[in-house]
Amino acid sequence: MNKNIVILGAQWGDEGKGKIVDWLTDHVGAVVRFQGGHNAGHTLWVNGAKTVLRLIPSGILHPNVQCYLGNGVVISPTALRQEIEELTAKGIDVISRLNISLACPLILSSHIALDQAREKKRGAQAIGTTGRGIGPAYEDKVARRAIRVADLYQTESVLTQHVKELLDYHNFLLKHYYHVEEVSVDTVLRDLFEFSDYIQPMVRDISSALHHVRTMGHTILFEGAQGALLDVDHGTYPFVTSSNTTSGGASTGTGMGVNIFNSVIGVAKAYVTRVGAGPFVTELHDATGDKMAKIGHEFGSVTGRPRRCGWIDAVALRRSVMLNGLTNICMTKLDVLDSFEEIKICTAYTLGNRLLHSSEFPTHFSALAACQPVYETMPGWKTDTQHISRFIDLPQKTQNYLKRIETLIGAPIEIISVGPERNQTMFVNAQTLF
Ligand code: GDP
Ligand code: IMO
Ligand code: MG
Repeated sequence: MNKNIVILGAQWGDEGKGKIVDWLTDHVGAVVRFQGGHNAGHTLWVNGAKTVLRLIPSGILHPNVQCYLGNGVVISPTALRQEIEELTAKGIDVISRLNISLACPLILSSHIALDQAREKKRGAQAIGTTGRGIGPAYEDKVARRAIRVADLYQTESVLTQHVKELLDYHNFLLKHYYHVEEVSVDTVLRDLFEFSDYIQPMVRDISSALHHVRTMGHTILFEGAQGALLDVDHGTYPFVTSSNTTSGGASTGTGMGVNIFNSVIGVAKAYVTRVGAGPFVTELHDATGDKMAKIGHEFGSVTGRPRRCGWIDAVALRRSVMLNGLTNICMTKLDVLDSFEEIKICTAYTLGNRLLHSSEFPTHFSALAACQPVYETMPGWKTDTQHISRFIDLPQKTQNYLKRIETLIGAPIEIISVGPERNQTMFVNAQTLF
């Protein structure tokens, strides 16, 4: 492969990005995460063995590939260390293959306390965050007061002063605004000193390191977390995460120029799921939705929360194609629909008694929440697709479903996934992609 590829979620997360990144890693020299933190949960199945990744790029199971955490990622020292140790215990060499940006902001225990206190205070308006401190950590980055990895290597007195100032502010909020327990400065400092020694062999200037990968003639896979409709600017605000999950994040979150990307693959489920609160036009509150959840095992890999389920939404996917400049779609979990008598596709929205224009996607969450789906119904294929490994062997009705979606969203489906295992994945036409 001689292309640099961005892979990201085209819906609200959990589309199966991790699985697809792992599968495609065979073709690249490096995999880099560019945003998000351990709010992500990516499940990989290889020959019956399950691996759940949160922060570490989904290329880590391939021994010859280097993995990178770009500056756009927020790092929880505790979560990263735990993940490295879990993988190492399974015999995966992480420490010599993981490269961590000096510019990554760190998630402290006070960020977690703030995240949880805020959610509690919002009550019925809670966003349903993962409670991992993601939002508060990004706030501190933008407010220019974050502790970043590079700060760990300043003198002890400089780091101590920085942490004290930051925690003074966090603790003021925790105690006087949220009326919850403060966080101990000494504990945070002790953990940071320990962490700085632990990760020292892995820290680098990732922009230069990736530039070097390119000059050596290798290609890079940029791995997104969450999904385009959770983007802090373009998603269903405020029911979003706090980073740019859309394709631009691959540039700002790594320090690579926008002219190096050759293709952008949007991973989309053959239906839709969403964890946490926020508008979801095609959500099903009936036996059909329960069936999707049951067959698709739709429970969050980070929090274990049940995922909300609904029919595929071509309006939202069309939006995602536009926001990300998607060149290709990877459709996952097609097999979950194998036993359905009929399958619906949302082709348009109505708002009140108005049919929205095909390019219209309400910006305010309340308007989006008030939209009603217009469905087109297709016959189900009623065939087990999990064992099919070539596009041409898929039932004609499955192919018709995929073709109809392509037409509605204006992007070609080039990869199809019919099961959780690495090898239950196929190209429609590998030549087109590479
Ligand atoms: P990610 O966050 O986008 O990487 O997705 P998750 O790993 O959170 O959720 C996707 C879930 O679906 C995981 O449990 C995967 O093992 C599973 N999965 C991925 N692709 C397929 C597929 O094509 N079919 C089925 N049945 N399961 C899949
Ligand atoms: P992956 O990478 C699905 C959702 C949360 C919540 C909102 C904000 O596995 O696809 P946050 O903790 O980020 O402040 O929560 O975003 N969310 C995800 N939903 N998949 C994810 O990651 C998610 N990461 C965050 O449920 O609605
Ligand atoms: Mg996930």
